Amino acid sequence: KVLVLDYGSQYNQLITRRIREFGVFSELKSRKMTIDEIKAYAPKAIILSGGPKSVYAEDAFTIDPEMFELGIPLLGVCYGMQLIAYRLPGGKVTANQGNGEFGQAALHFDEKSLLFADTPEDQKVLMSHGDSVEAVPDGFVIAASTDKTKIAAMADDDKKLYGVQFHAETTLSEYGNQIIKNFVFKIAGCQANWQMKDFIEDQIEKIRAEVGDKKVLLGLSGGVDSSVVAVLLHKAIGKQLTCIFVDHGLLRKNEAAMVMDSLVGKFGLNIIKIDAQQRFLSKLAHVTEPEKKRKIIGKEFIETFNDEAKKLKGIEFLAQGTLYTDVIESGTDTAQTIKSHHNVGGLPKDMHFKLIEPLRTLFKDEARELGEELDMPHALVWRQPFPGPGLAIRILGEITEEKLAIVRDSDAILRDEIAKAGLEDNVWQYFTILTGLRSVGVMGDGRTYDWTIAIRAITSIDGMTADFAKLPWDLLGKISERIVNEVGHINRVVYDITSKPPATIEWE
Ligand code: XMP
Repeated sequence: KVLVLDYGSQYNQLITRRIREFGVFSELKSRKMTIDEIKAYAPKAIILSGGPKSVYAEDAFTIDPEMFELGIPLLGVCYGMQLIAYRLPGGKVTANQGNGEFGQAALHFDEKSLLFADTPEDQKVLMSHGDSVEAVPDGFVIAASTDKTKIAAMADDDKKLYGVQFHAETTLSEYGNQIIKNFVFKIAGCQANWQMKDFIEDQIEKIRAEVGDKKVLLGLSGGVDSSVVAVLLHKAIGKQLTCIFVDHGLLRKNEAAMVMDSLVGKFGLNIIKIDAQQRFLSKLAHVTEPEKKRKIIGKEFIETFNDEAKKLKGIEFLAQGTLYTDVIESGTDTAQTIKSHHNVGGLPKDMHFKLIEPLRTLFKDEARELGEELDMPHALVWRQPFPGPGLAIRILGEITEEKLAIVRDSDAILRDEIAKAGLEDNVWQYFTILTGLRSVGVMGDGRTYDWTIAIRAITSIDGMTADFAKLPWDLLGKISERIVNEVGHINRVVYDITSKPPATIEWE
């Protein structure tokens, strides 16, 4: 396994992820790990990640010099490389003071170090640094340069110590993948024998050791992450796991049944389903403000969960489907806080559970891969993103049962037609909105004055930005026709053709 020590770069988890893709287990751990802890962990290779600070900063992150004496192959990336140069005799780092190098740069070398095996003498790399290494430590050679940075990579083949100033882990470094591969396989001698099923076995062992014969509680939302955790935990501890599934009545058509069928039916999970539609609807009555709806739903969710949890006796642990992206966005001891993340139904403040978060090192697509490996239904594993407040934010203005039925039915038609057209995997998210708009229409020989449904279908990588999907006209025509014919009180259908920004994906 390869240990990546976290010095705070936003790319650091990408390093571990690349290595896992090569079939070698890798984990990101705190830079505060002590030498003894590292020895006990026994990695085959260590990577020091990049980081936002200068080695000269007053609160700079440091390294124990003993790290260089462990005899374990070591690669420093960006800040990691500067740290090596700063700490070892002969090395020198200069603060460039505003004269850094940012963006893609042309890298060149004359003599090929093992690190650059199977890559050309000229290649593009991603640079993003203020400080530079000015002199390599004793025993090192300069392994590559760019116009601006004389020491863009350095190597000590004897001691197997390496540094790259560029971010080899990003796709903007053309041969970055190969360079990391060279370090992992050619230099450190790792073997590609890790698979997602090893992750499962590892986690099962860890969970069993931690939980013992105690009981674990899990809040199921019906989404991918909490469902995957549920199945994984069930595999590890069986009946010691109790899940609470709060059905707030704002889910899509047949969704709650699908979740129950697949998790209870197929895996035999112990799930307490709470039908709380009336509770939520009564709290939401006459509320029109989107943010107010969100607050009410979030609060009610936790309270409903709490009410049920209190009835259970002897629970010591609470499991959550937290992913790496949630962890990093909430800030770590090195990375900055981008936004504070809270799972709906997250840790209730007045309950003193111990937390179990088996997915916290994984990205979303890895969690999905895990779900597939656990033999979970495809529809559940590949479920499109669905907001916690559910259909409540797809009904503009006040929510009623009748309006809920309208969005639910129109959404089911949209999903059905997109599936029939085989476009499920091409569109990132798609749904209907019941706009607050009524307009005149003619049906049969009569005048109607009814609601307008909007269709939203977008393509996106991460939901942060999005483009409207260019669905075929014929398909849109078919969907419109079916919605008007099959759903009551709809006489007009429109297609949302704005991207994000300036619009958002949801309408509320
Ligand atoms: P927006 O509308 O902000 O949506 O462009 C971006 C992504 O986030 C989802 N979304 C939410 N998810 N609670 C959630 O759990 C919310 O309140 C919420 N609002 C939006 C949205 O579906 C899209 O995938």
